[in-house]
Amino acid sequence: MSENKAKISDSLKKKTDPKNFNKNPIKGTKFTIMVSSAKGGVGKSTFAINLTFALQKIGKTVGFLDADIYGPSLPKMIGLNEKPKSDGKFLFPLEKYGAQFMSLGFLVDEKTPMIWRGPMVISAIKTLTEKILWKNLDFLIIDMPPGTGDTQLTFAQDVKIDGTIIVSTPQELALMDVQRGIQMFDKTKIKILGLVDNMSFFTGSDGKKYNIFGEGGVERTAKEFNKKFLGKIPINTKLRESADLGLPLTFKDPDHEISKIFSEIAKKITEDFL
Ligand SMILES: Nc1ncnc2c1ncn2[C@@H]1O[C@H](COP(=O)(O)OP(=O)(O)O)[C@@H](O)[C@H]1O
Ligand SMILES: [Mg+2]
Repeated sequence: MSENKAKISDSLKKKTDPKNFNKNPIKGTKFTIMVSSAKGGVGKSTFAINLTFALQKIGKTVGFLDADIYGPSLPKMIGLNEKPKSDGKFLFPLEKYGAQFMSLGFLVDEKTPMIWRGPMVISAIKTLTEKILWKNLDFLIIDMPPGTGDTQLTFAQDVKIDGTIIVSTPQELALMDVQRGIQMFDKTKIKILGLVDNMSFFTGSDGKKYNIFGEGGVERTAKEFNKKFLGKIPINTKLRESADLGLPLTFKDPDHEISKIFSEIAKKITEDFL
């Protein structure tokens, strides 16, 4: 394990050497929280949208910024695809289910393949971080693209981020990248609020638990790097269906057993900011 750590830190060192960056808070928001993952397809967006409504249920005013510019999934997850209004200088977030939303998916054609290069990525991110008129948010949840690329570094250097949550599946292959993610955030001084184990297990109709992606790896990684472990979210059909229907589970059915797990995580997160 420590050999891995050494390898990772060497390759990251050049990119993240300490410099003085001017970190601006996102206007109209009290706390800005990123949801990150090392890999795509681990359920980061699903986690982010359900956390957003779990926070809303405990009385917070919430916004969601879809910064996954390569694969924006917000329009589908909340069943919304309108062009945001603009006053010529700023963009107004869209509103639905009592929350505020912005995604590049609202701004570009859904079928446009987003094969973007560095400078375009940075200018798109600047639009998303500087030009949105959020209204009195307690929490802005940012759904990041997977990995440790240009978007992460632009955010880390230019924006005041209050913390990040790292979502992973318990698979060994995913965990190696999680370690790289942890080191990047530690180097760029972004507080890691904790790690989440998604698609943790599946309960069959026989009542038995199946550990499809392995067991306990995310919690072990959290321990090894001295980070909080925020919880396990099982594989659940309702969670997938609700995302496909544009009606997040924690909004539609806040008493569902999965929604309760999200409530617990939301409470742990808010405790960090009281
Ligand atoms: N715990 C879960 N149980 C069942 N399906 C899930 C779960 N988490 C995510 N999914 C589904 O897995 C797919 C990938 O999730 P998504 O949130 O889009 O991942 P990412 O944003 O990391 O690429 C989606 O179809 C989503 O509905
Ligand atoms: Mg996603």
